[in-house]
Amino acid sequence: MDQETIDLVAFDERHLDGAVLLSREAGWPHRREDWAMLLALSHGFVALQGDVVVGTAMLTPFGDNCATVNMVIVAASMRGRGLGRKLMDAALQACGARECRLTATADGLPLYEKLGFKATHEIRQHQGIPAPLPADAANDAVELEWVGSENFPSVAALDLEAQGMDRRPLLRLLTEAGRMVVLRDAGRSVGYAALRPFGRGEVIGPVVANTLEQAQSLLSFLIASRPGAFLRVDTAEWHELSPWLSARGLVGVGGGIAMRRKPAGRQPPGPAKPFALASQALG
Ligand SMILES: CC(C)(COP(=O)(O)OP(=O)(O)OC[C@H]1O[C@@H](n2cnc3c(N)ncnc32)[C@H](O)[C@@H]1OP(=O)(O)O)[C@@H](O)C(=O)NCCC(=O)NCCS
Repeated sequence: MDQETIDLVAFDERHLDGAVLLSREAGWPHRREDWAMLLALSHGFVALQGDVVVGTAMLTPFGDNCATVNMVIVAASMRGRGLGRKLMDAALQACGARECRLTATADGLPLYEKLGFKATHEIRQHQGIPAPLPADAANDAVELEWVGSENFPSVAALDLEAQGMDRRPLLRLLTEAGRMVVLRDAGRSVGYAALRPFGRGEVIGPVVANTLEQAQSLLSFLIASRPGAFLRVDTAEWHELSPWLSARGLVGVGGGIAMRRKPAGRQPPGPAKPFALASQALG
């Protein structure tokens, strides 16, 4: 059918079922709930052919300095006709002057490079049913507690240190969808991790900590809390967390390329660092 018959409109709840079909066709695991969470945080765009969703893109702002572009999908039968670029143009207009980040697939890479995105590092996706942890794997020296309304502000502060942007709306949705744990050292909060249902199983992420060992303590705790569950962790290659995840039965199954456009040139304040992503869509 002719491209003139395609309308680009704002994404709303009525488009969720069509979006799920589209992501399934692309081989992505997102459930309706996963799309709904992204939509709640984002400006979404859909390409419609009649009532049929044939393309999607979302722009998720984090405060006024940063945003991610995600869920860029065009139906296989409609590719190569400029629809992906139109959806990206809409998302980038909603991005305004913010720094824009995304995780690219091999399919998306040429389009993003043409739009001025530059690759920064590799994202590795690990998943599986972890082997039971050995009894001595628990580190008694660190203190872990579940997150409720009283310690949520310390999680938000750690995330801001690690990311340099305000992700509180995302963090609130993550606490509603699943649970979070905070790690304390000498009474001070030094890391947190979240666990929630996603796709075929559950995702652990974000994981934010000062050190690799702290990130591993948080991951060990959440892995031990879900024996027999299918778990996924997305991590940046420069953290060296991948071998540790593989050794626990969360095998590497691919990943993506992290890219940025209009980088703001500022560093997150630290010392906390991101060790795992909320998702490839959200960073
Ligand atoms: C990525 C995707 C959305 C692109 O959609 P599309 O409608 O085919 O894209 P377009 O037709 O608008 O092409 C966009 C640009 O990329 C270029 N391009 C696309 N594939 C290319 C390739 N393999 N090599 C070089 N250039 C390529 C096109 O020439 C076009 O450039 P132009 O605008 O200067 O002419 C689509 O392939 C898709 O849905 N893939 C599966 C899901 C996915 O991986 N999404 C990306 C998530 S990060």
